[in-house]
Amino acid sequence: MIDFHSHILPAIDDGSADLEESLGMLRLSAAHDVGLMIATPHFYADAESPARFLRRRSHAYQALREGMSGQEAILPMVLTGAEIAYYEGISDCETLADMKIDGTPLVLVEMPMTKWSDRAVEELGSIYDKTGLIPLVAHIDRFIQLQHDRRLAERLRGLPVLIQANASFFLNRRYSRLAFSMMERGEIHLLGSDCHNLTTRRPNLLPAMQAIRDKLGEAPLQRVEANGRRVFTDNPKILEAMFL
Ligand SMILES: [Fe+2]
Repeated sequence: MIDFHSHILPAIDDGSADLEESLGMLRLSAAHDVGLMIATPHFYADAESPARFLRRRSHAYQALREGMSGQEAILPMVLTGAEIAYYEGISDCETLADMKIDGTPLVLVEMPMTKWSDRAVEELGSIYDKTGLIPLVAHIDRFIQLQHDRRLAERLRGLPVLIQANASFFLNRRYSRLAFSMMERGEIHLLGSDCHNLTTRRPNLLPAMQAIRDKLGEAPLQRVEANGRRVFTDNPKILEAMFL
């Protein structure tokens, strides 16, 4: 399984505090059947320039790669991306492509924690047409829980975007029924742990996958796995091929 959302890079954001914690998170992820982790540190356009962020990410990634040296066979592979906080004008950002998930046309976008304006949803939907990049909406579950809007995914229906849900969505008693029904309807395309550390927000994909398997059988997990493989492509028409 691919973990499409993680804060695994050491000392770059509110995720892993240091190299030791990152390696511990990788070991735990391996035990959760994760073969590939996408490192998606937070990027806030109002706090730093893309160039500075990319420099910091490169250093942190290098440090992790060096720390993983000799253990590659037992640890998940790590590729870089970013969790880009939505801002007005994101669709015109010239360096957006530098933040995509390596080897894919996907950019992980964190929508506003407040109620989404029509304008924000519209701009999200315009990213693909303007740039050829496909927004992957980070942790749709977080917004559903914050906004108490169970039909939030419907606002994105028909737009050229993919949706990522966190493992915890399927493990949360209050929301798991909704999580399973969204998964069953194909409204969740990719999964992530959004792991931040080894204590409060640990890698947790395995119990989520088990819960999905118990409730819905193998098919949805196979679909998510297939989606994960498909996005690693140069085909600019991937989105049409996949979902539209
Ligand atoms: Fe995150």
